[in-house]
Amino acid sequence: MGFNVAIDGPAGAGKSTIAKLVAKEKGFIYVDTGAMYRAIALHLLRKGVTPDEKDRFAAECADADVTIRYVDGVQQVLLNGENVSGLIRTEEVGNMASSSSVDKDVRAKLLDLQRNLAKENDVVMDGRDIGTNILPNADVKVYLTASVEERATRRFKELTEKGQECDFEKIKADIKERDERDMNREIAPLKQAEDAVLIDSSDMTIEEVKDAICKLICK
Ligand code: DC
Repeated sequence: MGFNVAIDGPAGAGKSTIAKLVAKEKGFIYVDTGAMYRAIALHLLRKGVTPDEKDRFAAECADADVTIRYVDGVQQVLLNGENVSGLIRTEEVGNMASSSSVDKDVRAKLLDLQRNLAKENDVVMDGRDIGTNILPNADVKVYLTASVEERATRRFKELTEKGQECDFEKIKADIKERDERDMNREIAPLKQAEDAVLIDSSDMTIEEVKDAICKLICK
């Protein structure tokens, strides 16, 4: 069994940025489980499935095989052998991932992949149900959050810096909607594990959050 660090939290809390830095400092691998859900979402979108067509999720993702590999330490996600890492970072795919991840077959598809990675490696794994469901015996569990206002501000800045036009109020509304869905779904909803350390990053720098998590890791 590897040393397992689980980081859960809502969209835009900075999980992936922080998890990558922690993994680098500790020499662990970073496992981005959201990317796996996004790959399945891309598969569904390519088949013309829309986020409200819940009845189609299970059948249409039956032929989706998601695997990952590491290139220079960076996780690449493969969908039926195609490297889709550069195609899954859009709001459309993110929203579809939030919708399709409520489905039990979609979740079941990714469970073994995630658990096996944690069994064989020292990992920092981020997602929504890592500490509560995927790795209930993780050595360190963190619930990383920030206010909706702060998360929307960060996402707005990120998109604006990339030169993408966007509307702050729309981003905020999307984040609220995503929280609502991720926290209230039936299977493996986003919630803080009882033994997770709560970190609210609203008024913290990236460095401060990274250091706070690294201090929890006795390895
Ligand atoms: O972290 P992200 O934005 O890449 O995740 C996209 C969606 O995938 C998220 O809104 C819910 C789903 N997800 C999940 O249900 N469980 C995980 N462990 C990771 C992501």
